[in-house]
Amino acid sequence: MTTATAKAFPNIAFIKYWGNRENTLRLPMNGSISMNLDGLYTRTTVSFQNSLPFDELIINGHEIIGTGLNRVSYILDIVRGMVDIHEHAEIVSENNFPAGAGIASSASAFAALALAGSKAAGLDLSEPELSRLARRDLSEPELSRLARRGSGSASRSVPGGFVEWQGGTTNEDSFAYSIALAEHWKLMDCIAIVSASHKKTGSTEGHAIAPTSPLQAARVADTPRRLDLCRNAILNKDFDTFASIVELDSDMMHSVMMTSTPALHYWKPTSLAVMNAVRQWRSEGLPACYTVDAGANVHVICLEAESQIVNKRLREINGVEDVLVARAGGPAKIIVNGD
Ligand code: DP6
Repeated sequence: MTTATAKAFPNIAFIKYWGNRENTLRLPMNGSISMNLDGLYTRTTVSFQNSLPFDELIINGHEIIGTGLNRVSYILDIVRGMVDIHEHAEIVSENNFPAGAGIASSASAFAALALAGSKAAGLDLSEPELSRLARRDLSEPELSRLARRGSGSASRSVPGGFVEWQGGTTNEDSFAYSIALAEHWKLMDCIAIVSASHKKTGSTEGHAIAPTSPLQAARVADTPRRLDLCRNAILNKDFDTFASIVELDSDMMHSVMMTSTPALHYWKPTSLAVMNAVRQWRSEGLPACYTVDAGANVHVICLEAESQIVNKRLREINGVEDVLVARAGGPAKIIVNGD
């Protein structure tokens, strides 16, 4: 039996991934940029055991079968193929934040799985001809590619800090890398929890219907411009430019969602109330901006110096149930002694 444990953070996209050019490999229509979220995490242990007839998946203490298990086995099958092992695995995973509510639990989940699964498989092999492959640490692009095949946004939770996923057109050139370390800019994400319930339409189904919106082609065509603006704003710590492009990008993605067939409306009335309040605060001089993933919760990005006031004001808005606060986080990591 060989075991490895890994921990990964979710991430919040500033320039969003929405729609695939190829669904099985999860090759996106456009590149994206995100920040890892420190303090929120998925911690996953993978143990390959020759006594197991199937992979067994336990998330937050509950056994998962069906689509969730198949998605995990698909990644472990790739790992098993890379090192030619046949054991099934027990996968035990925990999140410390609500899943399925626009906080990209699949990103941290598949980043942690790719890292723990590849490490566990690597240590397991002893055949001489395979030992080179077995002992090899998967380099960051390889891990990012592997995580991407489980969930696109997971490719961005492998490297640390501020991360760009170059969309690419093939399996080889579609991976993510850090554009700046977590310490580079003291940005905070204050996540206004508007609904902690599981969303009705997951991202995977959403990506599949993105091409039905007549707005998707325009959104995709304009992405290189938004990526440049966002990347430069991060590198130059230019909050004003950052705020405008992040809000525009989120609104563009939601416009595509709302005009897809069937239409996807993720915002709730409180989501809109938060977005309006944030715009108002910014016009009064408070550096803060919003972005919303495939859920109702609103991520309010601000500088660390203002995070307490933003947190306090968000809690005063009717319908905001809680506020989670996260600074920029590091890369996915192997956990050795507890942690
Ligand atoms: C709105 O990565 O969750 O959060 O690849 O099907 O798992 P799958 O989709 P996923 O999509 C993320 C969509 C988003 C935007 C983003 O994170 O870039």
